[in-house]
Amino acid sequence: MKETVVSGIRSTGKLHLGNYYGALGNFVKMQDEYNCFFFIADLHSLTTHPTPGDLSRTVKQVVIEYLAAGIDPEKSTIYVQSDVPEVTELYLYMNMNAYLGELERATAFKDKVRDNPDNVNSGLLTYPVLMASDILLHHATKVPVGKDQEQHLEMTRTFGNRFNRLYNVDYFKEAFAFSYSDKLVKIPGLDGNGKMGKSNGDASCVYLTDSADVIRKKVMRAVSDSGPTELNQPKPEAIQNLFDLMRVVSTADTLAHFEDLYANCNIRYGDFKKQLAEDMVLATEPVRSRIEDITNDEEYIKKVIQMGAEKASESARKTVREVREIIGIKKLY
Ligand code: TYM
Repeated sequence: MKETVVSGIRSTGKLHLGNYYGALGNFVKMQDEYNCFFFIADLHSLTTHPTPGDLSRTVKQVVIEYLAAGIDPEKSTIYVQSDVPEVTELYLYMNMNAYLGELERATAFKDKVRDNPDNVNSGLLTYPVLMASDILLHHATKVPVGKDQEQHLEMTRTFGNRFNRLYNVDYFKEAFAFSYSDKLVKIPGLDGNGKMGKSNGDASCVYLTDSADVIRKKVMRAVSDSGPTELNQPKPEAIQNLFDLMRVVSTADTLAHFEDLYANCNIRYGDFKKQLAEDMVLATEPVRSRIEDITNDEEYIKKVIQMGAEKASESARKTVREVREIIGIKKLY
């Protein structure tokens, strides 16, 4: 039996290179080897209160970008989280085994509280419980995600194991964060600090839908400095970030060439950024053109979403039925 993979991306808009290299690239590679479920986490995106119009538009956009990145709906199940309401029932059960202290200690939660002190809702607090339910719903063992999600995977294992202990069963499996490289990926932003993410602003993100010209402009404006003044100096964060991006989109030779120039204090950031931008344009070009083609095919998008909902519901219904039985929820009439 093939191992099961589950992963998702929130529907907060268009996907950026962090989503692409942190998660989506691995989704595409995993589909031949595993039984894969890739979904659009529209329920998770409700924590930030999108307008109804934005919500449905962004869900569709993520479906389009999944397909454009190369997920094959015949091999993998692509579905929208809210099309499988069983997950919300499992979320309720799992909430009974998730303790306030551990939820409050989650790094992602603390970051959100710091960044948006006026919107500390309980959906945000229990975000890891819903995420665990997404994974446990299909008994996944591998979860392709970026580095920022590692802690949520640890919590998923905690909740699943706690359920098993409480009911004295060996029901939920342990799931681990997965990447094809030896480490989980963290794609930095263009703004000089932190990871690429929508919350850091559009200028920090390169989106898969950005045109070649937009990519060039964003990269040329990326934060840098006046350049190294001593041989073999360590790089400040903003410069290291640009090198990290180059490691992802450029060849090893190109990277080595600019590393040498930096070490010898001969680097010209204009040339460095130009090369980085061209390699980014090249790396994203195939996805960009497929996004345009798929966007025009409404019928195909609908078919994919419907097919995914049916396949995901089958496995979800079975799990919820079994969980009810384990818990002792029975129809008494
Ligand atoms: P979201 O939408 O915040 O991120 C989606 C995926 O993109 C990865 N990612 C990055 N990876 C590397 N560098 C970055 N700068 C970067 N930015 C984003 C994230 O690690 C993630 O893999 N909570 C999930 C959504 C989710 C989920 C799940 C994932 C809900 N349920 C169940 C797996 C399994 C999230 O981070 O969404």
